[in-house]
Amino acid sequence: EQNCQPCSVADFERFARAKLPSSAAGYYRSGACGEHTLAFNQSAFQRIRIRPRVLRDVSTRDMAVTIQGREVKVPIGVAPTAMQKMAHPDGECANARAVGRAGSVFILSTLSTSSIEEVAAAAPDTIKWFQLYVYKDRELTKKLVARAEAAGFKALVLTVDASAWGMRYADARNKFILPPHLKLANFSGNLSSGVSEKTSGSALQKYIEDVFDLNITWDDVKWLKRITKLPVMVKGVLTAEDAKIAADIGVGGVIVSNHGGRQLDTSPASIEALPEISKAVGDRVEVYLDGGIRYGTDVFKALALGAKMVFVGRPAVWGLTYNGEEGVKKVLDILGNEFDTTLALAGCRSPADIRSDMVTHESTYSK
Ligand code: FNR
Repeated sequence: EQNCQPCSVADFERFARAKLPSSAAGYYRSGACGEHTLAFNQSAFQRIRIRPRVLRDVSTRDMAVTIQGREVKVPIGVAPTAMQKMAHPDGECANARAVGRAGSVFILSTLSTSSIEEVAAAAPDTIKWFQLYVYKDRELTKKLVARAEAAGFKALVLTVDASAWGMRYADARNKFILPPHLKLANFSGNLSSGVSEKTSGSALQKYIEDVFDLNITWDDVKWLKRITKLPVMVKGVLTAEDAKIAADIGVGGVIVSNHGGRQLDTSPASIEALPEISKAVGDRVEVYLDGGIRYGTDVFKALALGAKMVFVGRPAVWGLTYNGEEGVKKVLDILGNEFDTTLALAGCRSPADIRSDMVTHESTYSK
């Protein structure tokens, strides 16, 4: 099989799993508890049908969208995933460069193995957002925000679905640690090397419970808005109720996400949660989605249901594992080409042509 070239995102997944050490493979793959939501994220897309329109002139097409006032060439960005140097020595820098070449948005995790400044230097032309975890040490948290601003990041993405750390049994079983030659590059001392210290279970879980402020509330969203000029997005909203609070506070965007099925198991698939959220706040804030995007048709469905763009987490990690920057670029190109073909086959020339009545739940056809 290693002689075949990977053509689909699923091919990259298989190749990456075979190549990675089991502990890293388990960390990247796993979801929380029974991994039901992890599975829903993909199966829910399969339950949605596309209703294509035919015989329309779709000979010239354009995938570009405007996100936070900036042109993005394809509405498929890269979600924040921690510790990317386990996948490839070039880690986040390679990932961010590939995203820049695709003309999209790269979100850097707080828990990155390349620092904010390294990623900014490696990918100066990429649109970069910084994902924030709030540390108990608020001065340190403020410094992260200031560093992201100084390094030219264009938005902050506050992860709001981590009021406890999801139970990922793969990591507990493997007694997951970050290999000690790698560091959490945004920090120094123990905050940088803590995830490499062996414990009775997942070293990441222990680190997070020690140093993160897991008890953040809407007041902390307001606090974050006060200390930064950048737009603040909230990532991990799954209900219309919370999306309305976020919009009332004046966030820049809402990322509909269940953290790739890694936090609350049996929470809905992101694509299932999207319609109520876009209906509730889509006219007030930009709504994005991540979770389970593996095909261009998934991107089409998310846009039809109100997302302005989508993000992929694991697929980028698989590309990175396969061969660094080029692998991520290939994965993004596959998704982009599939999305472009989907536009054509559904009778659309651009994302603006996608209408909500072009998708329907499978149950429509079994009545
Ligand atoms: C994540 N995710 C995540 N989210 C976040 O806000 N900060 C983080 O550091 C991480 N780290 C992380 C690591 C790994 C290995 C995975 C798989 C996920 C969640 C991520 O941003 C995103 O919500 C999901 O990955 C989207 O689902 P898919 O595309 O992986 O199906």
